[in-house]
Amino acid sequence: MKKFVILFLSILLSLSVFSQENILEVFSWWTGGGEAEGLQALFNLFHKYYPDIKIINAAVAGGAGTNAKAVLKTRMLGKNPPDSFQVHAGMELTDTYVIPGLMEPITWILKEIGAYDKFPKDLIDIVSYKGEIYSVPVNVHRANVVFYNKEIAKKIGMKKAPATWPEFLSYLDKAQKMGYVGISLGDKNKWTSLHLFESIMLSQLGPEKYNNLWKGKASFNDPDIRQALLIFKDVLKYVNSDHSALTWQDATRMLFEGKAFCNMMGDWAEGYLKTLNWKPGEDFGWFALPDTQNAFMLVSDTFGLPKNAPHRENAIKWIKLLASVEAQDTFNPIKGSIPARIDADKSKYDVYLKWSMDDFSTKAITPSIIHGSAAPEAFVTALMDAINIFVTKQNVEKTFKEILWIAEDNGYVTD
Ligand code: GAL
Repeated sequence: MKKFVILFLSILLSLSVFSQENILEVFSWWTGGGEAEGLQALFNLFHKYYPDIKIINAAVAGGAGTNAKAVLKTRMLGKNPPDSFQVHAGMELTDTYVIPGLMEPITWILKEIGAYDKFPKDLIDIVSYKGEIYSVPVNVHRANVVFYNKEIAKKIGMKKAPATWPEFLSYLDKAQKMGYVGISLGDKNKWTSLHLFESIMLSQLGPEKYNNLWKGKASFNDPDIRQALLIFKDVLKYVNSDHSALTWQDATRMLFEGKAFCNMMGDWAEGYLKTLNWKPGEDFGWFALPDTQNAFMLVSDTFGLPKNAPHRENAIKWIKLLASVEAQDTFNPIKGSIPARIDADKSKYDVYLKWSMDDFSTKAITPSIIHGSAAPEAFVTALMDAINIFVTKQNVEKTFKEILWIAEDNGYVTD
């Protein structure tokens, strides 16, 4: 009897070891609207190569990771990391996780598979710290894009993309007078207002000054930032009244439903519109937000290797896969992003994504605030709150002052 119990227990133990070894837990916020589809395509590819490894999809819903980031931080600080997790290139990675010593470097992995020199240098720089790379970029999203319903554009007489703010505002006005929402917004999860505002800020400051803010070489005390708030106030005249009840997908969907003329969103909206069977260039068009045509507001999703990943070997396999051309060319055409690798197959990308690829290689690259690249979390959260209050109160002077305080508190230049 005793022998039997021991045998039974050792079978159980080996089973649990076996299952432990064959799990890969991937954490992200990709749960719907083009995002889940892209992630699933990566999982399918992983299964093709590693059919015995069970993937645990630990995604936490909420655009831009507004909910996921808090959950992740708690897990990381509680020494309960997933095997690999989505994190934006830039400060979100370095400041939150690398500098506090919670990540393993992955430079050796990229070298081992010959991918070390296959990413743009600027991108590698922002996923690196003290000479080591800490996460692999799977994509490059563009944040300063306006998507529009082509049929409505025709009705309001828009023959070409508006190049200036007065031109753009006049189309929003026309659309509104014809009974459409000019520009749809869904700020239930707060981040979308800052998403819109950061690109308006870029339009007023220009890429050089905008980039210098983060390097401490330009001051936040700049009339261009006040001007950006004034333009934002104008834009808000044309948003849907139920904006605070909607998610970003709800707002993007208003184009598809023929309710709104346009939506200013990152190009994950392109991925979403495609899941609704809308065709880029036929059903919907796009243009860079006025006065940001010379800039590419960069958002890059990356995956890293936390220290003490429970299934480290599987996490390394996952990271190797993500760094491959095959994975990047599988994921990005669905996700609405361009590959981070420079040697990807351009023919696999649609007309919108080809446009984005061209701009990525020719325009000034500017890091997104709300999508974690430009500034540390404390700054981003405080600015997001200030901008959300602005959406309701629309007090330009008060918000401008608040921005200055937030910048000062976080060590940026304000004189
Ligand atoms: C961004 C992320 C994108 C997309 C978007 C909306 O922060 O980089 O991949 O998921 O949020 O959720």
